[in-house]
Amino acid sequence: MTSATSAYGPWGIVAGGSDGVGVAFAHGMASRGINVVLVARRVPVLEAAADDIRSRHGVEVRTVALDLSASGALSELEAATAGLEVGLLVYNAGADTRNVDFLDKDLGTHLELVHRNCTAVLEAAYRFGAPMVARGRGGMVLVTSGAAWAGGATLAAYGASKAFDLVLAESLWAEWRGKGVDVLGLVLGRTDTPSHRRTRAADGESYGGDLADPYDVAEEALAHLADGPTWIHGSPRPTGGSPFGALSRRDAVLAMSRGAAASREESESGAGR
Ligand SMILES: NC(=O)c1ccc[n+]([C@@H]2O[C@H](COP(=O)([O-])OP(=O)(O)OC[C@H]3O[C@@H](n4cnc5c(N)ncnc54)[C@H](OP(=O)(O)O)[C@@H]3O)[C@@H](O)[C@H]2O)c1
Repeated sequence: MTSATSAYGPWGIVAGGSDGVGVAFAHGMASRGINVVLVARRVPVLEAAADDIRSRHGVEVRTVALDLSASGALSELEAATAGLEVGLLVYNAGADTRNVDFLDKDLGTHLELVHRNCTAVLEAAYRFGAPMVARGRGGMVLVTSGAAWAGGATLAAYGASKAFDLVLAESLWAEWRGKGVDVLGLVLGRTDTPSHRRTRAADGESYGGDLADPYDVAEEALAHLADGPTWIHGSPRPTGGSPFGALSRRDAVLAMSRGAAASREESESGAGR
C-alpha cells in the first residue's frame, strides 16, 4: 500500500476523468495504488480511458456515465459508488466551451455551466466529504482557473463559477484541516487538453503557445495535496495570492479583459497563446 492509499483510502473519484487533466489525475492516483471511478459523458472515451488505466496500473477501475450539468447527477454518482470507501475526490470537469460575450450565449448554456461548476461541485464535496470527515481521513481537489482572480469580458459565468470553486475549496480546507481531510483548490492556466483544443477551434482561434502538460499538472497537485488551501500551477509562488493583488479591482478587471482580447488577437495573427 502506498502512502497516498493509506492516507486517503482505497478508492478515488475523478469527476471529468476521461481525458485531459482528469485522466492524468486518474493515472496518477492509479500509479499510487488507488482504485478509481471515472465520471464523464462520452461512453467510448470513458471506457477507453478505463481500459488504459487497468492495463497500465493493475488497479480496479469503474466508469459512471453521467452529465454533471444535470440535476440528480451527484445522487446518481453516490448510489453508483455506494459501498466503496472513497478517500480521494477530484472534481475536474469545468471548462467553458466558448469564450464569447455574455449575451452571445443562450441562457440554458450558462445555467448548465453554473450547475456543473457550482451546484454539482458543492454537492460532490458534501456527499463525499462527509464520510471522509467521519473517517478522519481523505483528500479533495477542486480544479479551478486563473479566471477566478477577477472578472473579465467573455469570462462572466465561467470566471464567476471558478471563483465559487476557489472559495469553496479554501473554506473547506479551513474547516477540515484539523479533521484529517486535505482540500486543495487547484488554479490552472492554459493547459493542453482536448477540451481546450475544441474551445480554441470553436472560437476560430489557432492552437499553440505556452501550454501546461496535464500530466505535470496532476502529478504536482497530487504531490502537494497537503499544501492547501490553494495551489497555482506554473506560478513562481504556487501558494501565493492573486497575481492582481496589487491592483484596484477596476484595473484587475480591465487587465483580465485585455488579456482575453490580446490572446485572441495573438492567435489570430498566428502567434498562439
Ligand atoms: N485546459 C485549460 O487550458 C484550463 C485552463 C484553466 C482551468 N482549467 C480547468 O481545468 C479543468 C479541466 O479542464 P479540461 O480542459 O481538461 O476540460 P473539461 O471539459 O473541463 O474536462 C474534460 C473532462 O470532463 C468531462 N466533462 C466535461 N463536462 C462534463 C459534464 N457536463 N459531465 C460529465 N463530465 C464532463 C469530459 O468528458 P465528456 O466530455 O465525455 O463528458 C472529460 O472527461 C476544468 O475545471 C477547467 O476549468 C483548464
